[in-house]
Amino acid sequence: MRWLMVVALLLLSTMAVLAHGDEDNSDDTAEAVDVSGISVPADPTYHEHVRPIIEASCVSCHSEGQIAAYAPLTDPQDVVWATEDIAFRVINGIMPPWMPSRNNLPLKNDRSLSDAEIATIVAWAESGAQMGDESAYVPATTTSFDFVDIRVDETLQLESPYTPASDVLDDYRCFAFPLDLDSPQFVTGYEFLPGVWEMAHHAILYLVDSTVAAEIRERDGADGRPGWSCYGSTGLSDSGSMIATWTPGTFGIAFPAGTGYLIAPGEIFVLQMHYNLWTTRQPDQTRVHLQLESGDADLDELWTIPLNAPVEIPCPAGVEGPQCERENALNRIAELYGEDLRDLPDRRLRRCGQTLDDYADNIGENARSHCDYPSPFFEPLIVYGVLGHMHELGRSFRMELNPDSEESLLLLDIPRWDFHWQDRYQFVEPVEIRFGDMLRMSCHWDNSLSDDPRYVVWGEGTADEMCFATVMALKP
Ligand code: HEC
Repeated sequence: MRWLMVVALLLLSTMAVLAHGDEDNSDDTAEAVDVSGISVPADPTYHEHVRPIIEASCVSCHSEGQIAAYAPLTDPQDVVWATEDIAFRVINGIMPPWMPSRNNLPLKNDRSLSDAEIATIVAWAESGAQMGDESAYVPATTTSFDFVDIRVDETLQLESPYTPASDVLDDYRCFAFPLDLDSPQFVTGYEFLPGVWEMAHHAILYLVDSTVAAEIRERDGADGRPGWSCYGSTGLSDSGSMIATWTPGTFGIAFPAGTGYLIAPGEIFVLQMHYNLWTTRQPDQTRVHLQLESGDADLDELWTIPLNAPVEIPCPAGVEGPQCERENALNRIAELYGEDLRDLPDRRLRRCGQTLDDYADNIGENARSHCDYPSPFFEPLIVYGVLGHMHELGRSFRMELNPDSEESLLLLDIPRWDFHWQDRYQFVEPVEIRFGDMLRMSCHWDNSLSDDPRYVVWGEGTADEMCFATVMALKP
């Protein structure tokens, strides 16, 4: 009974946190896990019951040299110190960080805990965090999550450090990496190592055709600094194909066995860095590690399909003025990123067969958008994974195959959007998209999360929004 009370108490404290709203982007569908019905060990101890879970699911980040090294969970004392915080975070699904919901199609590298694991940790916390006897410790046989180790066959790194421009808050900079290849190669995995984490907002590695080599020579360094400014994609006449992406929360990635992105001699890698300069402006020398295999290997060729939905987010209640006019939002985009991007929000609407009227019901606190993509491919498309991307006003993201039908599949369901935990998700089993199947992506925002609310349209800056996705498939 006491145990049931704990859960009730933890739930209450979650609700208190949610009520504040400001910091929390969660959708109403994201709730604390209800583990009240789960049977748990009578007298749970650290060594026998909790340690194996922590070691399997937490220490890969919470240990020296890793992303959460500042809060190690490697020593019993560390865990005991943080008992309450740990229990709170696990029952509310905050830790381990894993954004897709339980309704999502099964994904590789799923970091989430099972109900039984959550119940065990909470019961242990509630019963006084007993240490128990170390001899009862048995290491977990499986690790629910571990970093993917890729082999480093090629490292791309800026030759000299780049310090972002001093007159913008969002700097998009492209850098070229000509490859000296004698024969075709497959990229089978990658890892980004941002030079300055605090200012890396996203990074995309594109592959462009050799025909733009002269264009690159002309633009590279033309303003006296490495690379060139590139809002949109590469800013070149060949916008290129997307090979690798990094957003906060993405670790090393290996593509499914037997697949890879093919690169041909003469093709050029272009790295697009998005620097957000709100907190710091320092010299950057981001690196990208690539795992390669010979082009002769019997691999299937991968392909990345980019998808977009419109962004039409009015001001929240109580905010009025010229900044709430859509026209001014378009002026702002043109001013910041170039005149040719002024009509991008309109193009996004047209591409989805929509008009502004379709978003007449959007209000600042509850703005939604979607776009439907019927598959144009006669042959079935084999899809290995997806990525969804929004900025900091995002509340939830969804990608469904054949929505509202009996065969609908939830390819990506992120009920509580968190800008800091985005990933390039891969399915446990590839999904087949047949001719005429419909892919729908949907985004949901809350403009009251903004420090400086205004009408927000599709734009590249951190203070603009995107409803963007990629689909990783076999080349048809
Ligand atoms: C993928 C990496 C990762 C995994 C796996 C992970 N964490 Fe974390 N954890 C973080 C990061 C990064 C932070 C700091 C930022 C934040 O709070 O989101 C954090 C913060 C925390 C904090 C707050 C620490 C403090 O004092 O500020 C606790 C407690 C915590 N995690 C517990 C856990 C537990 C328990 C597990 C396993 C069940 C776990 N984490 C798994 C990355 C991870």
